[in-house]
Amino acid sequence: MKFETIKFRPKKLPLIKISLRSKKFYELIKKRKSIRDFDKTLIEDEIIKNAILAAGTAPNGANLQPWHFVVIKDKNIKKKIRIYAEKEEQKFYNYKATQAWLEALKPLGTDSNKYFLEDAPVLIAIFEKKFTIEENIKVKNYYVKESVGIATGILISSLHYSGLCMLTHTPSPMNFLNKILNRPTNEKPFVLLVVGYAKKNCKIPKFATKKKSIDEISTWL
Ligand SMILES: Cc1cc2nc3c(=O)[nH]c(=O)nc-3n(C[C@H](O)[C@H](O)[C@H](O)COP(=O)(O)O)c2cc1C
Repeated sequence: MKFETIKFRPKKLPLIKISLRSKKFYELIKKRKSIRDFDKTLIEDEIIKNAILAAGTAPNGANLQPWHFVVIKDKNIKKKIRIYAEKEEQKFYNYKATQAWLEALKPLGTDSNKYFLEDAPVLIAIFEKKFTIEENIKVKNYYVKESVGIATGILISSLHYSGLCMLTHTPSPMNFLNKILNRPTNEKPFVLLVVGYAKKNCKIPKFATKKKSIDEISTWL
């Protein structure tokens, strides 16, 4: 493909505005919390569509956009996902997880019961594509995990900014999602995002609200 360019120079904002915006974004994003108690209020498709479009703008390896998002609203499919997820999670909690892993999860109070998979109005299954098949030709994708991770971050930020709550759920392994959602073998489940509104009296683990300080997470040279 030919190398072409187009003009692009976003407006340079006054410093005061940049500073204010950076603060505002941090104030907004720090209110995001993973929740597990969803109420059953439905979500407008448009909100989910806009968030997926936002995710689709993510920087990614060679602009090959190695992702696919499956939006699940159907009650029967959600139920099926819950059954399969709980089967995997029972194995995880009963014998697959290491003692250290179970210890790390203790303050979150999670177990193999995944009721939220049926309660939440929307599940978004995010798939990473190691390669894409175009007209029967296999096209290799690059930096797939990094790209899909960034896209997922933007998706979460967009949904949070819209006023919705979420849980990033990863029943391990997740390949049952290919079967239930009829996705091809070049796609691998990355994360199952549970989306909705918080139930009345929704509680979150206190432990999860403790975030590291700027000094702990950054080095300035
Ligand atoms: C990749 C990933 C996988 C996760 N998987 C699960 C999960 O399977 N079940 C769950 O309850 N929480 C899961 N979480 C949520 C984390 O427990 C949560 O993000 C963490 O405790 C920090 O809390 P916060 O999101 O409220 O800041 C996952 C988070 C990430 C990023």
